[in-house]
Amino acid sequence: MKERRYAAWVLLALFLPIRSFAGDLTRPEIERKIDQLLPRMTLEEKVGQLVQYSYGRVPNPEELIRQGMVGSFLNVRDVETANRLQAIAVRETRLGIPLIFGNDVIHGCRTIFPIPLAEAATWNPDLVRRCARIAAREAASLGTHWTFAPMVDIARDPRWGRIAEGAGEDPFLGAAMARAKVEGFQGDDLADPETIAACPKHYVAYGAALGGRDYNTVDISEWELRETYLPPFRAAVEAGAATIMSAFNDLNGVPASANRFTLTRILREEWGFEGFVVSDWDAIGELVNHGVASSLEDAAFLALRAGVDMDMMGSAYHRHLVDMVRRGRVPEEWVDRSVRRVLRVKYLLGLFDRPFTDPKRQQRTILAREHLDTALQEAREAIVLLKNEGGLLPLRKDLARVAVIGPLADNRTDLLGSWSMEGRAEDVISVLDGIREKIGPQRVLHARGCGIKDSSTTGIEEAVALARQANVAILVVGESADMSGEAASRAYLDLPGAQLDLVKRVWAAGVPTVVVLINGRPLAIPWIAEHVGAIVESWQLGVQHGRAVADVLFGDYNPSGKLPVTFPRTVGQVPIYYNHKNTGRPPLATEKYTSKYIDEDWQPLYPFGYGLSYTNFRYENLQLSQTKLLPFGRLLVSADVVNIGPRAGEEVVQLYIRDVVASRTRPVRELRGFRKIYLRPGERTTVTFELGPHELGFYNGQMEWVVEPGEFRVWVGPNSVEALEGRFEVVSP
Ligand code: NOJ
Repeated sequence: MKERRYAAWVLLALFLPIRSFAGDLTRPEIERKIDQLLPRMTLEEKVGQLVQYSYGRVPNPEELIRQGMVGSFLNVRDVETANRLQAIAVRETRLGIPLIFGNDVIHGCRTIFPIPLAEAATWNPDLVRRCARIAAREAASLGTHWTFAPMVDIARDPRWGRIAEGAGEDPFLGAAMARAKVEGFQGDDLADPETIAACPKHYVAYGAALGGRDYNTVDISEWELRETYLPPFRAAVEAGAATIMSAFNDLNGVPASANRFTLTRILREEWGFEGFVVSDWDAIGELVNHGVASSLEDAAFLALRAGVDMDMMGSAYHRHLVDMVRRGRVPEEWVDRSVRRVLRVKYLLGLFDRPFTDPKRQQRTILAREHLDTALQEAREAIVLLKNEGGLLPLRKDLARVAVIGPLADNRTDLLGSWSMEGRAEDVISVLDGIREKIGPQRVLHARGCGIKDSSTTGIEEAVALARQANVAILVVGESADMSGEAASRAYLDLPGAQLDLVKRVWAAGVPTVVVLINGRPLAIPWIAEHVGAIVESWQLGVQHGRAVADVLFGDYNPSGKLPVTFPRTVGQVPIYYNHKNTGRPPLATEKYTSKYIDEDWQPLYPFGYGLSYTNFRYENLQLSQTKLLPFGRLLVSADVVNIGPRAGEEVVQLYIRDVVASRTRPVRELRGFRKIYLRPGERTTVTFELGPHELGFYNGQMEWVVEPGEFRVWVGPNSVEALEGRFEVVSP
């Protein structure tokens, strides 16, 4: 019955994903140049453009360049080597086609910013854009043309180590971060010597690896793919991303690097992407392990056919494409199509006109004052205050003695996080440094207490004794940098080693205790959440970590970060995320036969969007511009936010919706807007959001984007749980 009622308006309300023009990468003058160059290239030279090797991992790279058998390198990390190799490409090859150098500039180059998960906790895309801009400037000064970033994989499983590299669990926040990073890396003009090409990765659904185990199988519905995993990629493409990286994972039985549906149907035909696709490291060769190719040759065939243009650090294309074309197995047009895309990006980057990098530029660029200042701002905004009982924080700066305890207190290396390519420990301010800098070294006591991972408890006694002499104990605990990132999945989400023992023992000494967490993923910390007075989530914040933490601890910065990912109570709740479906039996404490656990709460420890401040914000006066709207209509939703506390501060105002009844089940809440505001004590502001077909629609049974008539709920508030609630109705035309 419902179907019939909907039939008329589904067509009317159809909001089909349109081919996007925003990120158009074609320029007539460049296409003309490619038209002239391509016919002059031999088949070997063409295939060479589709081959990328890691510098230092292939014998005699210079010879490969001379023969035109390689078009790109990754891991050329200094400008001298880059210029030397480039000189061979442009001066000693027949056609002088420049090389493109790619690197993993993930969260900064030498000025290391917070890990991407922490960057997302700022909920401040403008700031994230500025940091990406700086990373590009520094990387470009070292001869890098192209970064393998941003990682835009949605991750709902904190066991997966790579959750650290992305923006967390939500597609809307993820899309905002993806856009900001692409804009930051690429600037307004790729040909500007201080911009670099972006490479959103890992296309696609890599973050949905079963069991959170890296490289594992992914099997999800097309709806899940389109509504959860694709939106950040689409946003990145619309922002003009020049390249995309195809992922390692199997996706519904067809590995992502051989997947014509995602690489050609969606990426090229639906979104109109004109840049090139590079495989992840040997992901083409791995098609043999996946069991869809019986040989490296088959693997090359499948990947090229699907739409992978460049083979990263595998020899499939290098060894087999020329031969396959000669034998007629692969049409030469497939090769030409991919070569055109690679050349297009090389032209866009201005590499034909300006192949070399001025070696002097790095001196005025690397670790420039402005870069460090911006890194401090981002590090402060990334910190999330999880608990602050009785206003324990901020601490007074005149405390007689402060004990800074824990294996990560006097640690620099691990604050860089994973993928901190040019980052150096010597550039980093540790938490201990930051606190000493803040209140002077004399009153700061320090004990390590225990190691990060080992189970020895021998240092705990000394740490407890030290805490007893102090007015406050600051426990700096968490994970080492190598516990997150690639191939760093965890089966446990607790503090590793003897760290929880250390926390318990110091807390039991009776001194006011603050826990500062350093980690690349949500941790399950129920004991700490219950007992310890204050918890500061500081992730891995890069070079300014210690300074940012000290600013928060002593009140020079009022924390404003919000969780971009749900914190579970225990690993057994995983995957746990806020935008889940309702089920037929939503959890009810009083009813056994509902969707929950018999041995643990179903609710998270800390919800998505959550984070405290030293001040208090009151939300009031929710207003909707109308309570009924047509499927194509637009609705304004506003709320007043008042700073009713004692301090100035920033707040991230969040808007969520729920489509209450629809032809397919919808999540209980979906983030559809956010705004970061700053209010002085007593100040009030009105925050207004606009909702339209983009925000209210979803993919129906026919995979059409529709806004269906019926009841909606809308919330405006400080996180995904507490909020003002309103209702409106979408009505049939
Ligand atoms: C493998 C990783 O999955 C990818 O993210 C990275 O960009 C490449 N290696 C290159 O280092």
